[in-house]
Amino acid sequence: MDKIIIFDTTLRDGEQAPGASLNQKEKIEVARSLAELRVDVIEAGFPISSKGDFESVKDIARNIKGPVICGLSRSIKKDIDAAYEALKPAKNPRIHVFLATSKIHMKYKLKKAEDEILRLAVEAVTYAKKLCPDIEFSPEDASRTEKEFLHRVVEAVINAGAGTVNIPDTVGYSEPEEFGRIIKGIKENVVNIHKAVISVHCHNDLGLAVANSLAAVKNGARQVECTINGIGERAGNASLEEIVMSIDTRKDIYAGLKTGIIKKNIYKTSRLVSKLTGFVIAPNKAIVGGNAFRHESGIHQDGVLKERSTYEIIRGEDVGFQVEGLVLGKHSGRHAFSERLKKIGFHLNEEQLNKAFENFKNLADKKKDIFDDDLRTIIEDEITIARIPVWELVNFRASSGTEIKPEALVQLRKKGNILKGSSFGDGPVDASFKAIDKIVNIKGSLEDFRLGAVTSGKDALGEVILKLKIKDKVASGRGTSTDIVEAAIKAYLDALNKVHSK
Ligand code: KIV
Ligand code: ZN
Repeated sequence: MDKIIIFDTTLRDGEQAPGASLNQKEKIEVARSLAELRVDVIEAGFPISSKGDFESVKDIARNIKGPVICGLSRSIKKDIDAAYEALKPAKNPRIHVFLATSKIHMKYKLKKAEDEILRLAVEAVTYAKKLCPDIEFSPEDASRTEKEFLHRVVEAVINAGAGTVNIPDTVGYSEPEEFGRIIKGIKENVVNIHKAVISVHCHNDLGLAVANSLAAVKNGARQVECTINGIGERAGNASLEEIVMSIDTRKDIYAGLKTGIIKKNIYKTSRLVSKLTGFVIAPNKAIVGGNAFRHESGIHQDGVLKERSTYEIIRGEDVGFQVEGLVLGKHSGRHAFSERLKKIGFHLNEEQLNKAFENFKNLADKKKDIFDDDLRTIIEDEITIARIPVWELVNFRASSGTEIKPEALVQLRKKGNILKGSSFGDGPVDASFKAIDKIVNIKGSLEDFRLGAVTSGKDALGEVILKLKIKDKVASGRGTSTDIVEAAIKAYLDALNKVHSK
């Protein structure tokens, strides 16, 4: 079997998506989940771009074992030095150097001619190679680069020591046949190509990122750069789960190829990334959307009951999506609870289990039937980001009605002190947010606000995901409760605490 190397760039290109920004603790949490998913390479960030990015890459390099840890760098010495410094603690570090090679980029952005670009690329790779044995080079905007020049650059950087040459479709302009031909052209025309792995990195501006990546695989690419849920610059990157499941499902077409991904961890990782970035997954999103394994039409349901393969090409449970309905209730014990958690992919330590069980019992008091998605929600709250919040909700009271002015009274705790605030508003949520603004003495503006139900039923857990902007800082927040005003307050405080930690 030939292995397809899965290079995950959720923490670099994914995090470049507008509004996706993650703090250091969240990045390490995502990196841990990616390691459990068994991605081969984690692109942890762009160390020169900010002090925060540098520290996050370093933290990941120090703490995450298993995958190669990679840092991005322009073809500039100070970038390469920063990447090297940040990656030093990693067992297997990789420096990813890039330089644009298309006519448009060379003329307007870099204002340099071909020979100079070639020289800079070779110089950068040679320099990086002295610091780190594993070097990847990307000719940015490769799909719009003159073929002959692209071949010259690829050959030169391999001679300079690049072990991976990554061919990006930077602006998502290519289409599958054409992109496949580009990879074939490289294989056939670059004399030393056997000394390097061909990688691809496709953006989704025309919705073709996954199709282009797979076309490249068919033509000899053996590394695919992708992100969880396909997040990334503009319309995003190729989605990891779609690439992995395509290769796995169509073994007839991708004969002899496999990835090392632990499929049953896909759904869990997808939810984590969605939760931390605040990017809600569309219900019809392939592989990880809420509807991806649900059958609505009577004909389909009938077919599936008779023979699953009539309408199912992937089993939800293979990617960690349990379609099982009712699970636990008020009288369920700790053993049943912990067994169920294991079944849906959570292995908690004693302390986490105690806290999660307490949360479960509290929820079961308010909600009769506890579904897997309810469990996931309370567990994710417990095990992710052991962040010590600056502001904590003590209690609140909110009133609204057709004939009264909505009002809220909120009490928060900060370092052991209880602070109170009250306000009127357009509704109970608005009034609560205004009361919080008064207590913290900062006015946040709401960039996005979404309310949904985690499961079905009138007593379902409500989930609020929002984006809060305070001065130039934007953070996402998420809160759940059977009371939607409480869920909104929790989400607001979650975002507020993130802004504080920034
Ligand atoms: O899209 C792109 O070209 C990139 C490179 C830095 C690989 O993200
Ligand atoms: Zn990119």
